[in-house]
Amino acid sequence: METLVKKIDEKKQGNVLSLKNQKRGTKKLYIESYGCQMNFSDSEIVASILNKENYSTTKDISEADLVFVNTCSIREKAEQTVRKRLKVYNSIKKSVNPDMVVGVLGCMAERLKEKFLDEEKLVDLVVGPDAYRDLPNLIKEVEDGRKAVNVILSKEETYADIKPVRMSGNGVTAFVSITRGCDNMCTFCVVPYTRGRERSRNPLSILKECQELYNSGYREVTLLGQNVDSYLWYGGGPKIRFKRATKEQKENAVNFANLLRMVAKINNKLRIRFSTSNPQDMTEDVIDAMSENKNICNYIHLPVQSGSTRILELMNRGYNREEYINLIDRIKNKIPDCAISMDMITGFCTETENDHKQTIELMKYVKYDYGYMFKYSERPNTAAAKKFDDDVAEEIKQRRLVEIINLQQKQSLENNKLRIGKTFEVLIEGYSKRSKQHFYGRTTHNTVVVFKKENCKIGDYVNVKISDCTAGTLKGQIV
Ligand code: 5AD
Ligand code: SF4
Repeated sequence: METLVKKIDEKKQGNVLSLKNQKRGTKKLYIESYGCQMNFSDSEIVASILNKENYSTTKDISEADLVFVNTCSIREKAEQTVRKRLKVYNSIKKSVNPDMVVGVLGCMAERLKEKFLDEEKLVDLVVGPDAYRDLPNLIKEVEDGRKAVNVILSKEETYADIKPVRMSGNGVTAFVSITRGCDNMCTFCVVPYTRGRERSRNPLSILKECQELYNSGYREVTLLGQNVDSYLWYGGGPKIRFKRATKEQKENAVNFANLLRMVAKINNKLRIRFSTSNPQDMTEDVIDAMSENKNICNYIHLPVQSGSTRILELMNRGYNREEYINLIDRIKNKIPDCAISMDMITGFCTETENDHKQTIELMKYVKYDYGYMFKYSERPNTAAAKKFDDDVAEEIKQRRLVEIINLQQKQSLENNKLRIGKTFEVLIEGYSKRSKQHFYGRTTHNTVVVFKKENCKIGDYVNVKISDCTAGTLKGQIV
C-alpha cells in the first residue's frame, strides 16, 4: 500500500463515520479509522455489514454499544496513536459506558493477533482486514461472554458484492476498491503481512459500482489498491495463481489498462483517478490508456522511496534510479501535462549522505507536484528488520527529512506558479473552508483550486482562470 490518495496523517484524529439516511438500528456502532484510504474504504464495508445486523452508526462514543478502531501499522507512530485512543476508550468505558464492546480492526489487529487481547485488556474483538464478513458471528461470541479473534487472511476475499455505505464524502468524489493485498515484498513494508496476498475484484462489480455512483450524482472515482497497476482479473483468486489459469482464463483476463478503458467509457463526465501505482508494475499500456481518454486524470502517484539505486535494491523495489527516470520521461513524453507525486523514505538502513544527495537530485529532476515524505520506521518481522540494522541516527533521519520536505515545498510552489494565467477545468467538490462565498475543486492534476461561487453548484465542471497560488492551492475566477 503505497500512499493511497488523500493520505491521512497518523497525527490527525481518525475519521468518525456517520451514516446518513441509515436504517434505524436498535444498536449503535462508533467507528474510527486511521491510516490509508483503503482503511477508510474498509470501514464503509464494515458499516454496511453491520447495518444489516441492525446497527446504526453514531458520532457519540458515549452512546455506542460497539466501538471499533480501524488501525494502521505502516509506521510505529501510527500504532502509538491507536494505543492512545484505546486508553481514551478505556476511560470512557469506566466512567460513562461500562457495557461498550471494543474491537480492533485492520492492520494492527492482523499484526498482533491474539497478543492484542493480552496487551490491551479492554479489547473484546480482534478482526483482520479479510474477516469482516465474520463480524456478526464474532459479535455474538462476545455477547456470550467470550473474547473473539479472526485474523485469517484470504486469497479470494474482495468484498465485491458489498455496497459500501458512502458516509463522510462530498457526494461528488468516491473511492472504489479494485485490488486487495500486495505481493511486492518491499523490505521495509509490513503490508504484505497484514493485508495478505494480492487479489483483484471482478471488473463487472467495479463497473456496476462506478455506474451507480455516476447515476447518483458522483463525478469522480478513484480506483483504489495497494498496487493498482498489478490488477489482473482472470476469474478470481490470488494473482500468484494466474500462471496456473486455463488458456481461456488467460485469453479473457482483464488487466489494469483494460479496466481503465472500461471505466472511462461509463461517461465522459465521470473522472477517473487511481492510486497507488508501483513503478515496477506500471505498463506502457496504462500510459496509453491515460493519454487516449480525457476523463482519466493527468495525475499519477508514483512512489519512488529513494533516489539511490543501492538503497532501492536493499528495499527490493524492483527498479533502479535509471529505470524510474526512464518511466517518468516516457510518461511526460506521452502526457506532457501529467502531474506526478511521490512517497519518499529518509534514513533507510545504511543510507549515506551520498544516497541522500541522489534523492535530492532525483527530486530536482522530476520536479514532483506533491510528495509524502517519511522517516524510516523499522517494522517487526519485515525483511529489513530481519536482515539489516536500522543504523541511521534519528537526528540524521530527521535532518534529511526536513531537507526533502523544504525542497518539495519549494518545487510545489514553483509548479503552481507556472499555472498562473492558465485556465483549467475544475470539478467542484464543496465550499471553501474559509468562506461560504467560495467553492473549492480540483484540476485534472489533483491540484486544489479556490474560486468565487458565481452561478454554479457542487458537482459542476467549470473553467477557472488561475490568478494566484500558494504551494498547496491555486486561486482563480470562473471564466
Ligand atoms: N517506514 C517509513 N515509511 C514507510 N512506508 C511504508 N513502510 C514504511 C516504513 N517502514 C511509506 C512508504 C509507502 C507509504 C505508504 O508509507 O513511502 O509508500
Ligand atoms: Fe507498497 Fe511495497 Fe508495501 Fe506493497 S510492499 S504495499 S508495493 S510499499
